[in-house]
Amino acid sequence: MSLRAFFASSLAVLVALALVAAASLVALTTFLHTASRDLGSALLRADAAALLETALYAAEADRLRERSGLPRRSTVAEDDARISRCLDTLRGLITSERGKKLMRQLESVIAEYQSESARASGPAARELRLQRLDEAMEITEQIQAVSREQAEATMRHAKRLDVLSNDVGIGVAVLLLVAVAMLVVLMRQFIYRPLVAIRSAIAEFAAGNRRARAPETGPIELASIAHTFNYAAELVERQLGSMATVAHDLRNPLAAMSTALAAVRDDRPLPSEEQVRRLVALGQHQVTRLDRMVGDLLDVARIEAGRLELKLTDCDLRGLARGVVELFRSESPRHDLVFLEPETPVQVRCDEGRIEQALGNLVSNAIKYSPAGGRVTVGVFARGDEAIFEVTDQGVGIPPEERERIFEPFRRSPTSREAVPGTGLGLSITRRIVESHGGRLELESEPGKGSTFRARLPKESPAG
Ligand SMILES: Nc1ncnc2c1ncn2[C@@H]1O[C@H](COP(=O)(O)OP(=O)(O)OP(=O)(O)O)[C@@H](O)[C@H]1O
Ligand SMILES: [Mg+2]
Repeated sequence: MSLRAFFASSLAVLVALALVAAASLVALTTFLHTASRDLGSALLRADAAALLETALYAAEADRLRERSGLPRRSTVAEDDARISRCLDTLRGLITSERGKKLMRQLESVIAEYQSESARASGPAARELRLQRLDEAMEITEQIQAVSREQAEATMRHAKRLDVLSNDVGIGVAVLLLVAVAMLVVLMRQFIYRPLVAIRSAIAEFAAGNRRARAPETGPIELASIAHTFNYAAELVERQLGSMATVAHDLRNPLAAMSTALAAVRDDRPLPSEEQVRRLVALGQHQVTRLDRMVGDLLDVARIEAGRLELKLTDCDLRGLARGVVELFRSESPRHDLVFLEPETPVQVRCDEGRIEQALGNLVSNAIKYSPAGGRVTVGVFARGDEAIFEVTDQGVGIPPEERERIFEPFRRSPTSREAVPGTGLGLSITRRIVESHGGRLELESEPGKGSTFRARLPKESPAG
């Protein structure tokens, strides 16, 4: 998993939990608002119903006072107006269907009560009026009972929601705690530990332990940092090891020259002319070898510093390759060097010296790693936009796991390290030369049967 994915998923979990908590809060406050509004209107309804009862009783009391010859507290019109105001208030507070139905009944009973009151007096009319009054009281009570039921239902619902919101609150808090704890543990395991391991590997390496390596674990980004460090550490280790090998290799030609020169000493007569010629030839050969080794080392240093300069000219690849083949033909009579070239020129813009060097490295390898002799074929072709030169041998071949590594500086295959002299720089230089011409170097090989190295150069070099 990458660090980015890790942080994104952690953030997603935390955001989801925060959203659940926020949504629960919003739902709860909305319900609380509705419940308090319902309870408030139930209270107002009960209050309005009680006021209506009082207004009806007050009207009836006034009527009794009038009959008993006592002065009325208010006029009939005032009593009716008060009753009608109470009815209006009550009507405005009723929302349920059942309440509305009761309200309609109440209004018609009160209307009858008022018309009975206005119409006649006498025991029978009074009986009828009181009956209407009782009915009105009963309906008012029913309206109050409906309000009470609604209030009780709202309270029950609020209680359930209270329990539910407690559960949700505790659940979200626990989940948040668990998520944060898991995040801390995961970050420790997944990020902190690999980071500490990389830091201590770097510190160990800097302190001189060239074998210190970082574990390539944890998120992709850290694993890739560890991989890059390990690769660099391996390169440094190999280069340090190679320096010892190179120093050793440099001593071989020096030792051969020293032996040759020792033949000419003050205390001994001069060797024969023939012997002197042989010794000088040997010395020259060793000087050439030394020159090549030092040149390769310089080239690698230049390549590493990105300072491989090319002197580009237009040249025919066939001529360059022919020259290289001729040079090696005289040097290795055991091998059958075959040169294949087209009839038309293979023009390419290149640094002649560098291309000769690259071709020379490939032919030299083909000869060195075909210890039993055999055919070495050097071919030059033009294919579409590409100029190609390839070297094929019938030598030891290269196992698949070595095919990429042998292009690294100082890398030699374990078998050739012992048997064949070399510093392991030729191919890395060759590849860089080909690449700096905008081309690429390919390899096909079959262990035990031979190898083909093919360089493809663009006919128009990008550098030119
Ligand atoms: N034609 C080949 N057949 C088999 N193995 C090869 C061939 N060419 C290269 N190799 C392998 O690749 C390794 C690297 O080759 P490279 O030319 O870079 O170095 P070298 O030949 O060992 O030394 P030098 O620096 O003198 O060229 C060789 O040591 C050898 O193991
Ligand atoms: Mg070589």
